[in-house]
Amino acid sequence: MEKKQYTPIVIESLIFGKNSDYPLYLKSGDNYILYRSKALIFSQSDALRLKNNGVEKLYIETKDKDKYDNDMLDHIEYIIKSPDYNFEEKAVKIYTYSKIYAEYVITTGNLKDNQENIKKSIETTVEYLLMSEFAFMNLLNLSSYDYNEVGHGMNVSIYAMALANRLGFSSKISLYEIGFAGLTHDIGKLKIPREILSKNGLSEKEAEEIKMHPIYSKEILIANGIDNKNIINGVLEHHEASNGTGYPFGKMEEDISTYGKIVIIANRFDSLTRNRPYRIKMSVTDALNFMEKNSELYNVAFLREFIILMSKKNLIGSTAIQ
Ligand SMILES: [Fe+2]
Repeated sequence: MEKKQYTPIVIESLIFGKNSDYPLYLKSGDNYILYRSKALIFSQSDALRLKNNGVEKLYIETKDKDKYDNDMLDHIEYIIKSPDYNFEEKAVKIYTYSKIYAEYVITTGNLKDNQENIKKSIETTVEYLLMSEFAFMNLLNLSSYDYNEVGHGMNVSIYAMALANRLGFSSKISLYEIGFAGLTHDIGKLKIPREILSKNGLSEKEAEEIKMHPIYSKEILIANGIDNKNIINGVLEHHEASNGTGYPFGKMEEDISTYGKIVIIANRFDSLTRNRPYRIKMSVTDALNFMEKNSELYNVAFLREFIILMSKKNLIGSTAIQ
């Protein structure tokens, strides 16, 4: 008999009060134990009970992954419109959903297999951001707990969309493009060996290799059929600087696209405010001051708007996003 394959799923992603079209499993050691047959309803108290017992993940049979992905698409569409979830709960659901697919894309570079879900997660985030000026903060408060490349991609995406929105990008398509660029800007790091990325004190050759990652990001997007100019520019230019000292091309401000200028600020700010192997994170206030002192690296008008955005709603000093 062929051995069954299993795929982990996040508990919060399940729809409460609904039975899934496929069975759910628990993992015990190397074994998978049937937890819910497909006819049984999964409730919020089931989720709580699992959490209280220290269960973080459930499993589905890998052959059911397409059904699960389709459920997720329906689910998120329902959540954003549903009166059953309050504004904060919507943020949690949208963030959980986005993270599932962001993680997949950022860790594998495979954008093709979950294209619909990635698209929907960014579109839903745009929709959520446009619902209220508090939306931005709700999403950021959730993202503070994710301290890795996935969290970085999601943060840059959220910062970039919020800044673009503040700058008057009112079309959902533009905000989607900027969000997509923010999410995938570093995807090219997958082509660089891990040891180099986490190393302190790089050789000249290694530093040059790292500086290639925006070009690798573009190559991965193109290989996945994504050739939208705005997305490509945002990704390719995320380490450029207005005074020409950035990389990989050393472009001057007038040669950097609007999308690039936004992602540069979003990326820099998130990099400064998270721990790196070679540097301790800065506080929000220190990072904004630092960027202001080095304003020749950025589009000054955009930087000013970003500072106002981050200062709004007492974001500065909030421990939640430090
Ligand atoms: Fe980067």
